[in-house]
Amino acid sequence: MSNKKINLITPYYLIYESKLLKNLKIIERIKKASGAKFVLALKCFSTWAVFPLMRKYLDGTTSSSLYEARLGCEKFKKEVHAYSVAYSFNEIRQIRQYADKIIFNSISQLQMFNRFAGGLEIGLRVNPGISFSCFDLANPARRYSRLGVIDKNSLSKVLPLIDGIMFHFNCENNDFENFSLSLDFISKHYGALLKELKWMSLGGGIFFTKDGYPVDKFCKKIKEFSEKFAIQIYFEPGEAVITQSAELVTKILDIVHNGMDIAIVDSSIEAHMLDLLTYRLNAKIKSKNTGSFRYQIAGRSCLAGDVFGTYRFKARLKVGNILRINDAAGYTMVKKNWFNGLSMPSIVVKRLNGSIDVIHNFEYKDFVNSLS
Ligand SMILES: Cc1ncc(COP(=O)(O)O)c(C=O)c1O
Repeated sequence: MSNKKINLITPYYLIYESKLLKNLKIIERIKKASGAKFVLALKCFSTWAVFPLMRKYLDGTTSSSLYEARLGCEKFKKEVHAYSVAYSFNEIRQIRQYADKIIFNSISQLQMFNRFAGGLEIGLRVNPGISFSCFDLANPARRYSRLGVIDKNSLSKVLPLIDGIMFHFNCENNDFENFSLSLDFISKHYGALLKELKWMSLGGGIFFTKDGYPVDKFCKKIKEFSEKFAIQIYFEPGEAVITQSAELVTKILDIVHNGMDIAIVDSSIEAHMLDLLTYRLNAKIKSKNTGSFRYQIAGRSCLAGDVFGTYRFKARLKVGNILRINDAAGYTMVKKNWFNGLSMPSIVVKRLNGSIDVIHNFEYKDFVNSLS
């Protein structure tokens, strides 16, 4: 462990390997007890500096594009599931070299490309028409959804072309009872098809790493299902793997007043935590929210609504104070952008041995190269 004092410059994302490990250990336990396999959803978290730790516990990665599939292959170096809402012919030819399984979103794509899959296992995304998503924006069963095959008759006809199917219909679902009911639903409606297949993926969105989740019941349910249909079950977690494992560390640059006190930090929700803005959620800031000093915490982009939220603090905030935004690993670093040309938060990792690694400091040249 290095004793050198590192001068970290805000803003930066700080990933704690020890917190990641806590989630990974739960996954290890589920894998052992249930026989299920877990592939990391790269759309949620792709910071490959911590893949060496993650790959000890996870079976591989799943992707939403050619580039993610390639990243999984080159940096995670385990099983690669390649899914895309729609492939181009050019991508299919390239993806073969990176993936183990290729998952099509529609029967038309399956029929167009299955002969070019060159020995890869083939899967199809199925839309069971049920969903436990809290947001219409993220609900794969929403009206007119393009995500997955709906018609069961057509699905039965293409069964000889596929090895497995993928369902994804959850979003931060921490309710075991409705997970259990959804497995019963799948068993009832798709059981006959599953007997013909090698594997079934249940996608992401199940919050089995949340405190209090009934992990033993979860394992029992999965094991029974997989034995009943003699099928390998996969999960594709994103958020559940990295939850609570990182912070966005920011500094207050100015405090202004307009009906309330507003602290402006050297970051931006639009540029650095975009998902929160998309889903209209407040950032989680480490304050007990009980003090008598109330502040709006705002970003420094020109967007009027660039606001992290309003919080109470025990003491007055001052220019120069550090503010830590919690739970900053998922759908943040993968979505960060150069809006307003703001400085991009560095990526910093606190390793298991306590040492701090500054993985990447973004510079003006990164901004320029992202534009051209
Ligand atoms: C097909 C698929 N798999 C996995 C995931 C990961 O979901 P989560 O991060 O909620 O676990 C998503 C998220 O949108 C998805 O669309």
